[in-house]
Amino acid sequence: MTVQAKDIVPGLAGIPAAESKISYIDGQKGILEYRGYAIATLAEESSFEEVSWLLLYGELPTAEELAGFRSRLRENRQLPERMYELVKSLPGAGHPMDALQACTAALGMYDRSRDYDDTEHADQACIRLLAAMPVLVAAFERHRAGKDFVAPDPELDTAACFLWMLTGQKPDELAARVLDVALILHADHTMNASTFAARVVASTEADPYTVCSSALGALTGPLHGGANERVLVMLKQIGGPDQVEAWLEGQIASKSKIMGFGHRVYKVKDPRSVILQALARQLFDKLGTTPIYDTAIELEDKVVAQLGHKGIYPNVDFFSGIVYSKLNIPVDCFTPIFAIARVAGWLSHWREQMKNNRIFRPSQVYVGGHERKYAPIEQR
Ligand code: SDX
Repeated sequence: MTVQAKDIVPGLAGIPAAESKISYIDGQKGILEYRGYAIATLAEESSFEEVSWLLLYGELPTAEELAGFRSRLRENRQLPERMYELVKSLPGAGHPMDALQACTAALGMYDRSRDYDDTEHADQACIRLLAAMPVLVAAFERHRAGKDFVAPDPELDTAACFLWMLTGQKPDELAARVLDVALILHADHTMNASTFAARVVASTEADPYTVCSSALGALTGPLHGGANERVLVMLKQIGGPDQVEAWLEGQIASKSKIMGFGHRVYKVKDPRSVILQALARQLFDKLGTTPIYDTAIELEDKVVAQLGHKGIYPNVDFFSGIVYSKLNIPVDCFTPIFAIARVAGWLSHWREQMKNNRIFRPSQVYVGGHERKYAPIEQR
């Protein structure tokens, strides 16, 4: 069957690439579920460790399963010493996402067996990757700030341990819980660009470290995971609520994308954005508000008034940066935090792909020339 240009679907919008049981979105109703559980319920009741288990294995863990999972994560935060040497060898001026991608690929070099049909070995690789992400992100931040590494605290779970390793101070309960919820919200999201990248690489039977380092590359882009960092820059550039109208006029006139808005699937406010906005307000109640939030609220009102009819509403990246800023997390660490969470989703999709795998190999519509005559260089 010869395909024609009219058959091409830009960005594969709406084209199903796989059958999955991991997460579900209803973009018209603003619904997100992980393994059938509503995201608002998981954000309220669960933890990142419990949600990671749910995504990986399909069921909520028993108390014993969760305790064992948490302790294996804590054990595996002790990275090989040479991983820290690798972090120290990287240019501090580089972006933390590049450091994370390089270190994630390197971590796979310590796992010499490639036999992931062995479920215990596959489970161990998932544990090592989930455990290593926060350690690597915090270690690179310490390195480029010229500070000593902070060893992971075996008493702390992912969110609290990350803040400890990043700042050298034990986080207060609210800060740790807010970050834990943010990790839950970012853990999976059906067939987004980085998860699709993960599934394509998984379909070649590459190892899970390579799958995750490939997905990290896709997440880095400003139209995907890189948007949260750019939202903060954008809100600072606007200057304040009074400047929003004029700024937005310019954006729309120049047909520029507004960071933190719009979504391929959601045509209403992203349910994660609603929860992140509430988390921001919890932090403000305790720590005081921030002018950037007032700018964000004014911007949301004006964008929805002018572009809501096109389904342009805040997405997950719009308030996440405001939350992370309030936790004193450096702006270019926002996307790495997205990755710390999303690695749970990527690994769940890796496991699902391997259960019923066929290598991804789409077609194309060739629009170039044929049988062209080769001209010797002196005649060109
Ligand atoms: C994430 O896919 C996922 O699930 C991703 C994610 C996840 O959890 O994995 O949810 C995380 O990546 C969230 C998105 C973060 N990115 C941004 O905030 C960057 C800004 N957003 C846009 O670039 C855009 O909305 C996308 C990339 C998110 C979606 O792009 P689409 O679906 O390809 O939409 P499009 O570019 O075809 O736009 C359709 C129309 C266009 O207008 P018209 O030409 O039809 O008149 O909507 C307009 C666009 O100009 N539009 C925007 C806009 N997003 C779409 N106009 C202004 N600002 C925007 N942000």
